[in-house]
Amino acid sequence: MNLKDLYIDFFVSKGHKRIPSAPVVPENDPSVLFNTAGMQPLIPYLMGQVHPYGTRLCDYQKCIRTNDLDEVGDSTHHTFFEMLGNWSLGDYFKNESIAWSFEFLTEVLHIPVEKLAVTVYAGSDAIPFDSESYNKWRSLGIPEPRIAKTVEDNFWIAGESGPCGSDTEIFYWRSEEDVPDIFDLEDNRWVEIWNNVFMEFYKDSEGKVTELPKKNVDTGMGVERTTAILEGVHDNYASSIWKDVIALISSISGLPYEGNEKSMRIIADHLRTAVFISADPAGIKPSNTDQGYILRRLIRRAIRHAKRLGIDINSDWEQQIAKILLNQYKKYYKELEDNENVVLDVLKNEKEKFNRTLEKGLREFEKATRNKESMDATTAFHLYDTYGFPIELTEELASEQGLKVDIEGFNEKFREHQELSRTSSQGKFKGGLSGNGEIETKYHTATHLLNAALKQVVGLDVHQKGSNITSERMRFDFSCDHKLSEDEKQKTEDLVNEWIQLGLPVSVKEMPKNEAIQSGAECMFIEKYPDIVTVYSIGDVSHELCGGPHVNNTSELGHFKIKKEEASSAGVRRIKAVLEE
Ligand code: ALA
Repeated sequence: MNLKDLYIDFFVSKGHKRIPSAPVVPENDPSVLFNTAGMQPLIPYLMGQVHPYGTRLCDYQKCIRTNDLDEVGDSTHHTFFEMLGNWSLGDYFKNESIAWSFEFLTEVLHIPVEKLAVTVYAGSDAIPFDSESYNKWRSLGIPEPRIAKTVEDNFWIAGESGPCGSDTEIFYWRSEEDVPDIFDLEDNRWVEIWNNVFMEFYKDSEGKVTELPKKNVDTGMGVERTTAILEGVHDNYASSIWKDVIALISSISGLPYEGNEKSMRIIADHLRTAVFISADPAGIKPSNTDQGYILRRLIRRAIRHAKRLGIDINSDWEQQIAKILLNQYKKYYKELEDNENVVLDVLKNEKEKFNRTLEKGLREFEKATRNKESMDATTAFHLYDTYGFPIELTEELASEQGLKVDIEGFNEKFREHQELSRTSSQGKFKGGLSGNGEIETKYHTATHLLNAALKQVVGLDVHQKGSNITSERMRFDFSCDHKLSEDEKQKTEDLVNEWIQLGLPVSVKEMPKNEAIQSGAECMFIEKYPDIVTVYSIGDVSHELCGGPHVNNTSELGHFKIKKEEASSAGVRRIKAVLEE
């Protein structure tokens, strides 16, 4: 039987009610992007609110931790994992909690007692030594040298504030070598498998600690790690959880797992997390902010590693892998069944989007790093801004060649960029727009794209002569000596749509007017502008002096359609166009 089922059955037999896993994107907690522990959705109840299912609960909770994204690729890290948990909300406390953990491990999972060790809270000025837990473990047959006492490692809180308390952690000897008599926390052959937190306190954001109205128990056990242990494998990715996915990646790439572990683990892990994020009821799509950006980074890194394994990334490799994952998990999580097509579309669209810039970006990367020992912030930001390379992707590529990237400089540029797009979207730099609504803003960005597209299709002597925007349509007048042919119109329209599809970021910079003109930025009436101007750039395709506001990314525009092309005055043509959903 599967570990999840064994766990739930066991705790139900001890009077617990099974509660469903909460979504990965917290419903009422904007302080975190994702649920990182089973207790997170239960915080109000740990704080004293009455839970409709009672005082004994258990579940398996979908969790995402992306703070050590870079570590994924080794044998133990995952960005998504399932956490088994059982809770007492002011019901049982240390005695039962420890007894049941011990019973589950030794009698249900048949782990020999000799392979277990534990830690308990050693005591400090504020909270005394946890003799109750210590004595309980002793009574269950854990010898004294296998019980370590710590202060730091035996106090648990999610982040900086919230419900918290001392804990007792259970470790397993994961090695073929003889189990040492004395438990040494520094020896990493001892791996933590279960954490039982005795939540008695609440720490507020100022650091003040008070007692909770009730004494609770919060436990957590990682499914991936425990499964690997039970199956006797030393690499989490060699367990039954990953077997089918790794076998498929190996067959698609025609390469063995041995020797290609890192890329295969990253593809497997990142796509699984992407499947769960995009199936979530929150409806997250790849974007450049918050959860959407994490989703984008995960998919793009998986694509890069697929390419590294020589997989034809235009084939349906990612659909095949996602389908295996969906089938494997949908009996536990109904949203995977309900949103199967959404998940497959998200992966396909993001792959297609990234594929368009990946090759060029990689060439640019190569050019920028040839004979170099490090990469400067401007290049790293250019790779992000124009080719959609998330910084850790650039960093990873660089480190494979022994190069360092100026991350601090990149972060600085990134912050500046965000600050400027925020200010501009708040309408601080007001331009010649009649309305400043969302639709008008989209048309405004579309005007820049149209201007740039006409230059590429019709000729560099095309210049803007005027424009007018309403919430229904845009009108764009430009210098041109002939009526556009059907072919020119179609090519222009296609080019604008291609740029929209690419999801190009829109950025804004303030600079002296002369510098802007010298850099080749497009502008209509130079004499009308102040000495310091703002220049809007759309990816690498358009640079224009402009007052804004603009969208943050061209992907927000929808579909661009030219409705009419006609004469406006001598040597000036007029295009009317719309943005459709
Ligand atoms: N909340 C505890 C943890 O995440 C159980 O380790």
